[in-house]
Amino acid sequence: MNVTQITFSEFLLSERSQHKLDKDLIFLLEDIATSCRIISHQIRGGAFAGKLGATKSTNVQGETQKQLDVIANEVFVRHCSNCGRVAALVLEEVDEIYWLKDKPEAGDYLVYFDPLDGSSNLDVNLSVGSIFSISQLPTAIDATDDRSILRAGSEQISAGYSVYGPSTSLVVTTGNGVNGFTHQQGTGEFRLTFPDMLIPETTAEFAINASRYSLWHPPVRRYFDECIRGKDGPRNKAFNMRWTASMVAEVHRILIRGGVFLYPSDAGNISSGGKLRLMYEANPMAFVIEQAGGAASTGTNRILDVQPTSHHQRVPVILGSKEEVTVLDRYHRES
Ligand code: AHG
Ligand code: MN
Ligand code: MN
Ligand code: MN
Repeated sequence: MNVTQITFSEFLLSERSQHKLDKDLIFLLEDIATSCRIISHQIRGGAFAGKLGATKSTNVQGETQKQLDVIANEVFVRHCSNCGRVAALVLEEVDEIYWLKDKPEAGDYLVYFDPLDGSSNLDVNLSVGSIFSISQLPTAIDATDDRSILRAGSEQISAGYSVYGPSTSLVVTTGNGVNGFTHQQGTGEFRLTFPDMLIPETTAEFAINASRYSLWHPPVRRYFDECIRGKDGPRNKAFNMRWTASMVAEVHRILIRGGVFLYPSDAGNISSGGKLRLMYEANPMAFVIEQAGGAASTGTNRILDVQPTSHHQRVPVILGSKEEVTVLDRYHRES
C-alpha cells in the first residue's frame, strides 16, 4: 500500500474546504470511524474472548441477538453521543430512540445504525459490517415526539458502511460521490484506497437468496428465470450469482465490480414489505449506490423517496448497476 495515501481525517478536511462540510459532521464521521475501528478489533478477537455466540435476548425485529450485535450497539452509542449536534440515535438492536437533546434545534443530526450487519456470519468467520445514515433536522422539534424525526432517505447528508472482511474498509458519501478507505494495521489510520468509486452501468452478476424462490412474486421470478437461462435466454448473457447473507459485503462487491442485489418482498414477508430495514439498511445503501452512479428501488419506487412511517420498518430492496435495476423496475410495471 502506498503510505502517502491520505487519511480519513485529511480527506474530511479537504471535503470541508471543497464542499463546505459542517465541522460537526466531520467530528461525527470521525466518531463513527473510531467506532468501526473498535468493532473491527472486537470481531477479530471474538473467538479468544468467547464473544462469537448468541445472547439469550431478542431485538425489536424478533431476531436472536449475537453478543457482538450488542457490543457493536454499545460502541456506537458510547462513541457517537459526544458531538454536540446529535439530537438522536436509532439503532437496529434497540426499540427506543436515544434522545441526546431535550430541545433539538434546526440543523441537529439524526443518526441511524445497523451496528452489525450480516451477524449470522460471525460464527463462520465470513464478512460482516456496520451501516450508518445521517440526516439533519430542518426545523427545531419537540423531543418527546419520536415520529417527528422520521425523514425520507433523500434527506440524508451522509451515509456509509464498514466491512470487517479480510481487511476493514470504510466507505462514505457526504453527497459528493463515494470514497473507500482501508484500515491500515500499525498506524491504525483509515487511508483513501478507493477514491471516487463508480458502479459499472452493466453487469452479469446478481445476488438473491434463491431458497425463497417459491415465495417470490412474478416479476422477481421472471428476472431470475431469465438470468439462469444464460446466453440462450432472452437476456443473452451468462449470469453469475453470489449470496453472502451480509448486505454490506454484497454492496461492497457491487461498488467494486458491479452487480445487482435483491431482497424483495415475498409471500413469506409480505406483511412487512421485505426483510431489510428502511432507515438503517436500505436508505444508507441506496444513498451510497446512487452517489456511485447506480440505482436503488423497491421495484415500484426509488428507495430514497419512500416516506417512512416507523423507525424499524422493512422495505423491498433492489440495488446496484443501473441497467439491471431498470429491467427489474420494468418487470414490476409489466406484472
Ligand atoms: P442483520 O444481521 O443486520 O440483521 O442483517 C441481515 C440481513 C442482511 O445483511 C442480509 O442481506 C440478509 O439479512 C440475509 O438474509 P437471509 O438470511 O435471508 O440470507
Ligand atoms: Mn439483526
Ligand atoms: Mn443488517
Ligand atoms: Mn444488524
